[in-house]
Amino acid sequence: MLNWQQSTPNDLSTQNLTAATGLEEVTMGASRIHVDDKKIINCRADLNQLVPFKYKWAWQKYLDACANHWMPQEINMTADIALWKSANGLTDDERLIITRNLGFFASADSLVANNLVLAVYRHITNPECRQYLLRQAMEEALHTHAYQYIIESLGLDEGAVFNMYREVPSIHDKAAWSLPFTQSLGDPEFNTGSIEDNQRLLRDLIAFYVVFEGIFFYVGFTQILSMGRRNKMVGTAEQFQYIMRDESMHMNFGIDVINQIKIENPELWTEEFQQEIINMVHEGVQLEYRYAIDTMPRGVLGLNAGMFSEYLQFIANRRLTQIGLPEQYAGVTNPFPWMSEMMDLKKEKNFFETRVTEYQTGGALSWD
Ligand SMILES: [Fe+2]
Ligand SMILES: [Fe+2]
Repeated sequence: MLNWQQSTPNDLSTQNLTAATGLEEVTMGASRIHVDDKKIINCRADLNQLVPFKYKWAWQKYLDACANHWMPQEINMTADIALWKSANGLTDDERLIITRNLGFFASADSLVANNLVLAVYRHITNPECRQYLLRQAMEEALHTHAYQYIIESLGLDEGAVFNMYREVPSIHDKAAWSLPFTQSLGDPEFNTGSIEDNQRLLRDLIAFYVVFEGIFFYVGFTQILSMGRRNKMVGTAEQFQYIMRDESMHMNFGIDVINQIKIENPELWTEEFQQEIINMVHEGVQLEYRYAIDTMPRGVLGLNAGMFSEYLQFIANRRLTQIGLPEQYAGVTNPFPWMSEMMDLKKEKNFFETRVTEYQTGGALSWD
């Protein structure tokens, strides 16, 4: 591994072949960077200069994400607390949906945040993409905060909920599936550069942005939002709706990054690699279907396991085509068309109707 602090002039040839990280010595009078020097991976130009922008879509997503800022405490949880505490307010099946989903999501967003910060960030060599990654990391922290806030509001057993990913097989299996991708990139010896190493990065991006955030979240989102549509656990459902809006943007950002890496490095997209990705998506669909059965052993809220099987195949087809791969499940349609309305950003006005209008972010400064 190259240590920048200890590098000597003899190391210069090695430095020239190594992707920038942003930690290089600051060289007085170095030539200015040009937009054409920028690349998503393996860039060797200075990473500490946000402009000139090359990937305007990344900057725009950063701005859009900031415009959607929200905090978990802004959402009124009173009705949820009353319903949860009333003896006949919810069936056992409905309670199982809520606790299992909190169990999955409470640790899932930490897995995503760790992947971003400890694995992906160092290897994405573009400042405007990094700016979005920083915003996304903050949003993942808010999502974990939201789950903690719901758990605390309802007075659930925190230990039981936060340990589900080590105690409930269908939740464990989704976490266990994703972790090796983070471990692979988080290895301090790992660097991009060769085809094999660049594929390793691309594989992680697809595992997290397409499978984890694009498939593993959607049984839970659908279950909780359909509860909200039936006027149950409306505060929890509203938290999930904000989270889903953020998550759909994370996934779309990830897909743009994946497709841009493909454009800049077409040699990575081999037949063999494409088949590997298709297999990953199949695995993701199977794991998420098991999770659907485990969170909802019987039909409830007008939902049943068969609908989730079709829904997962439908969204998997969409994810695959978005990264340029063929659909794998023929003839499936969307059994939950209302889910796309829930995600539609144009609904922003309705979305904020229930929001507290006056609140302070952090400590207010006094200017006099
Ligand atoms: Fe998240
Ligand atoms: Fe996310």
